[in-house]
Amino acid sequence: MNEQKIIEDLKATFQELYGGEPDGVFFAPGRVNLIGEHTDYNGGHVFPCALSMGTYAAARKREDNRVRLASMNKGKATVEELTLEDANKPKKDRWTDYPIGVIAAFAANGNEIPTGLEVVFFGNVPAGSGLSSSASLEVVMGIVLRTLYGLDDVRQVDLALLGQQAECDYVGMQCGIMDQFASAMGRKDTAMFLDVNTMECEYAPLDLPGMKIVITNSGVKHQLASSEYNVRRAECESALEDLKKVKPSLKSLGELSVAEFEEIADHIRDAVERKRAKHAVYENARTVKAFNALKEQGNIEEFGRLMNESHDSLQNDYEVSCPEIDFLVKEGRKIEGVIGTRITGGGFGGCTVSIVKDEAIDEFKTRLTEAYEKEFGVTPEFYVAEPGDGAKILEKK
Ligand code: GLA
Repeated sequence: MNEQKIIEDLKATFQELYGGEPDGVFFAPGRVNLIGEHTDYNGGHVFPCALSMGTYAAARKREDNRVRLASMNKGKATVEELTLEDANKPKKDRWTDYPIGVIAAFAANGNEIPTGLEVVFFGNVPAGSGLSSSASLEVVMGIVLRTLYGLDDVRQVDLALLGQQAECDYVGMQCGIMDQFASAMGRKDTAMFLDVNTMECEYAPLDLPGMKIVITNSGVKHQLASSEYNVRRAECESALEDLKKVKPSLKSLGELSVAEFEEIADHIRDAVERKRAKHAVYENARTVKAFNALKEQGNIEEFGRLMNESHDSLQNDYEVSCPEIDFLVKEGRKIEGVIGTRITGGGFGGCTVSIVKDEAIDEFKTRLTEAYEKEFGVTPEFYVAEPGDGAKILEKK
């Protein structure tokens, strides 16, 4: 569906549910991560790009304290009746936790939202697919609030930080900053090399001559994601504590080179935690290498090789993959013209990201579809990534 049609549908639904016109229409994208997985909360680097898919919102301020939220993704959109007070109450385990969590995060940072609002959302990032549908929902809510209430001191990067805070403190998933950062700060046709320690970001043009970034959705929704994700995070923190005993100045696993890590890795007492830390350190090194290979030498073959290594490490050491994703990766690698392929995002299902030569894309889709249907009885979906801009206002009265 093209953007103009989405905006028209949103406004028509807005009119139907709330009457009249929205004050504005907004968008924040999902993201695909090319390399650098589970490195963000370990003080490392990530290399994602924002997508052209994301979450749209039509919104209007109210005079009272009611917060009325509707989603066009839930069949016929119906209004969820909440109030600003809900931001002070525990989450409800519903999709509305994300926007309400953002209201809570704004308040926690001195930007109390003074009156209610009404919003209609529509997202075209498949939920639970590792492409950050939730971050795009948080970030679009952030830009809605900033614009409607004239909160000009909220910078673009704050939209990312506030979204992350909503997810960690309200929703309860202890995520890093990558997804919300990509959603807020993305730039068309570029990927973002972000050093999470300094929050310095270098934008790298993504001109892949004669090839594309292809996303394959396994259809496995990552249900386990938040609980297992928090477990991984805790395992890394515990490994770090062990390493601090021999290296007291150490602040994060991301500070360690591979050689430094290997020298002290034995001090991590638990074998599982040692594997988790190993992934974090090696993956960070791979991400830096991959970025340099692409930027300095235009060496896409090397980039692809590192993507493959990243997958193997996520499968074996970090253990966040699943049989369906491993199958897609294994089959994909058999196809000539596939430069690299790996799981993307938090894991436990979702999507793979692959760099595929143009002439191999049809074969890639056909062969993976046939093999995957035969093995799992499910048809995978494919999207060719179009790296897009971060959160923006599409229309404003
Ligand atoms: C999720 C989190 C991110 C990041 C990835 C794994 O998407 O939200 O912060 O940790 O998993 O790389």
